[in-house]
Amino acid sequence: MQNLLDLESLSTPDIENLLDLSQNMVEILDRPIKKVPTLRGKAVVNLFFEPSTRTRNSFELAAKYLSADVINVQKSGSSVEKGETLWDTARNLSEMAVDGVIVRHRVSGVPQQLADILDIPVINAGDGSHEHPTQGLLDALSIIQAKGSLRDLKVAIVGDVLHSRVARSDIWVFLALGARIVLVGPPWLLPESYEEIGVEITTDLRQALVDADVIQVLRLQQERQNSKELPSLWEYHLRWGITRQTLSWAKPDAIVLHPGPQNRGVEIDSDILDGSRSWILRQVRNGVAVRMAVLFRLLGGGLDE
Ligand code: NCD
Repeated sequence: MQNLLDLESLSTPDIENLLDLSQNMVEILDRPIKKVPTLRGKAVVNLFFEPSTRTRNSFELAAKYLSADVINVQKSGSSVEKGETLWDTARNLSEMAVDGVIVRHRVSGVPQQLADILDIPVINAGDGSHEHPTQGLLDALSIIQAKGSLRDLKVAIVGDVLHSRVARSDIWVFLALGARIVLVGPPWLLPESYEEIGVEITTDLRQALVDADVIQVLRLQQERQNSKELPSLWEYHLRWGITRQTLSWAKPDAIVLHPGPQNRGVEIDSDILDGSRSWILRQVRNGVAVRMAVLFRLLGGGLDE
């Protein structure tokens, strides 16, 4: 593995290996002193050209817990605002002897293009509607912790699948690990092409949730939508919102995931988000562990302390 650009092209053993390593990292996070010297002397750049709270900060903390140095570059305040291309920015930063680049961008394919011109590892932290591989891995890790494995589980992915890079990464990793996937939401937000790879698609929330073991709830990505696509938010909530009533259609031990950020009262009600079936904050913690595992795999170093 030289880069982490997507989950579609990762082999199942590579995925399993990263998830095992992530579980080891969870144990490091549970220690009173979390810093290990694994990546001491290495430096990474966090290049975030789209808003982010969880992903950016958890990459930064993951690098710091492994003793790497981190610099953060955002569009605002960088030379991109003066007309410099992203490629030139990245080339110049990599010339400062950094060992890896983490990139988030609104355009799909940007991480791949950076990997083509840089000779250091590139990690995709979310590109357009394409993929968000570390989110897919942390979702899989959370499900494995809750259920033991993904094999034969029914996973419902609810909402704006069309614009969701999270859904795309989830689909590849959940399928690789043997889950059954149902996509559900408004018809104009469901890409039909997934039926070809064995994913079920429905607009009927009840049908998707009956017998579900896991419900991954997505935000309506209004920044990527054409305004004509949007139903009113109350109408969306009424038909596809996860509420106490709609959750009762799933298995009694079904867990609820959400990649964040959440719009309370739209795609999910507060009492579910904050309730006992929600694994949402565990996802956030697992995100740090997964990013530690990815940095460790790509930037080398031993697990010695
Ligand atoms: C997601 C993203 O940016 O793709 N959030 C995240 O990284 N946890 C999902 C979203 O923005 O809705």
